[in-house]
Amino acid sequence: MEIQNRREFLKVTGLAAAGGMLTLNACSTGAPLAAGTPVSPDVKLKVGLIGCGGRGTGAANQALSADPNVELTAVADIFDDKPTETLNLLSMRHGEKVNVPEENIFIGFDAYQKVIDSGIDVVLLAGPSRFRPKHLEAAVDAGLHIFCEKPVAVDAPGARRVYEAVRKAKEANLSLVGGLCWRYEYPKRAFYDRILDGDVGEIRSIYNTYNTGAARVIESNQNWTEAQHQLRNWIYYNWISGDHIVEQAVHSIDFMQWAMGDQYPVSAVGTGGRQVRTEDIYGNIYDHFAITYQYANGAKGFHFSRQQPNCENSYMAEIFGTRGTGVAPASGEHIIRARREWSYDGEQNNMYQTQHDELFASIRQGRPKNDGEFITTSTMLAIMGRMAAYTGREITWEQALNSTESLGPEIHEWDDVLPISSLSVAMPGVTEFT
Ligand SMILES: NC(=O)c1ccc[n+]([C@@H]2O[C@H](COP(=O)([O-])OP(=O)(O)OC[C@H]3O[C@@H](n4cnc5c(N)ncnc54)[C@H](O)[C@@H]3O)[C@@H](O)[C@H]2O)c1
Repeated sequence: MEIQNRREFLKVTGLAAAGGMLTLNACSTGAPLAAGTPVSPDVKLKVGLIGCGGRGTGAANQALSADPNVELTAVADIFDDKPTETLNLLSMRHGEKVNVPEENIFIGFDAYQKVIDSGIDVVLLAGPSRFRPKHLEAAVDAGLHIFCEKPVAVDAPGARRVYEAVRKAKEANLSLVGGLCWRYEYPKRAFYDRILDGDVGEIRSIYNTYNTGAARVIESNQNWTEAQHQLRNWIYYNWISGDHIVEQAVHSIDFMQWAMGDQYPVSAVGTGGRQVRTEDIYGNIYDHFAITYQYANGAKGFHFSRQQPNCENSYMAEIFGTRGTGVAPASGEHIIRARREWSYDGEQNNMYQTQHDELFASIRQGRPKNDGEFITTSTMLAIMGRMAAYTGREITWEQALNSTESLGPEIHEWDDVLPISSLSVAMPGVTEFT
């Protein structure tokens, strides 16, 4: 049930007569919100942003649009030019809802903790994926509600930490909305509801793609250190991004998982390589992957992702069942061809906004929402696909999940950033599974 206004809120919670509003207003006194309890529309929700890049700025815009009584009060980044850009853009759009004093703009690898400790209620985690386990753990430990971008880790040790943080968030009644945004798009929700209801029968295979053109390269400034260059161009360094199958194509792997009811595959085999982007400027990631996932019931998932210019692009899932097929593109018509043909003709929405609308509604209603498990499993499956392609070997789910391979150290300061000369490009048949 949506609590539309203060009167309705009082009716639903029965707090008017009891005077319990005082306890729930605790946040205005600086104490944490009582998680799992409705929050009056009168209580201002303070939001902090970690990672002032493209997505972080977008997520903050959506958070500020999601609820009338919300304010951005603190931001973090490792580069001091990034918050300025973000705050300027957000202030133009949201005016007084952007209330970040100079002392709440934090810079550095410990800036995330300072935002978390600054008296906020909701945190937006939008830095590179390498940092997500640490940022997420700290947010959960502080009892914050969370919007957390995908992917949530770059390796199995990171994913295991996230599973544990997700469990703790559930126990603590915290809301955790994840950045696998297509799960919030109305046409896809209608499509996958039908798939899960059995409209195409038992699923035998799923073809899913994330084939795009080139990704951006940020030209190096001659005053930058090598570490700064790497963090500006983090998507090209697998120990920071997880490689593009994890960093970007996790969306398509998630389409497959959604259709399969989030049961994980038992194994994966695959290929991949670096054919077009061979220069040093492209770090050590691949530019294409092709992975076959094997499910316990015999179904197979075929995943293709590519970042190469001037090629055929495709971003979709096609599902083949015993009674029909379904096609769900990233944009375009969603169709099911079975005994009865169906195509989506309902309302369209901005899925990024819906994510935040539902996050803030869940906080106001005291009904925690937690995307943690599926976002971690889809991330882990993208990592498993990368492991299969890098090694050229069949990798089982148990092997992948229990892998001890850590792609890099925890970064506390600039000196912890791995030198580029220490990084190598994986070679199938040579690279070992750890
Ligand atoms: N769901 C989606 O559709 C979608 C779209 C784009 C990006 N993303 C995800 O959002 C995340 C950010 O991507 P982006 O495109 O905004 O990248 P970006 O490079 O534009 O932004 C990342 C920001 O984080 C900052 N940063 C780096 N390390 C940090 C740290 N330790 N602490 C705080 N800040 C740090 C960077 O300086 C940068 O400003 C990625 O995980 C990406 O996969 C999701």
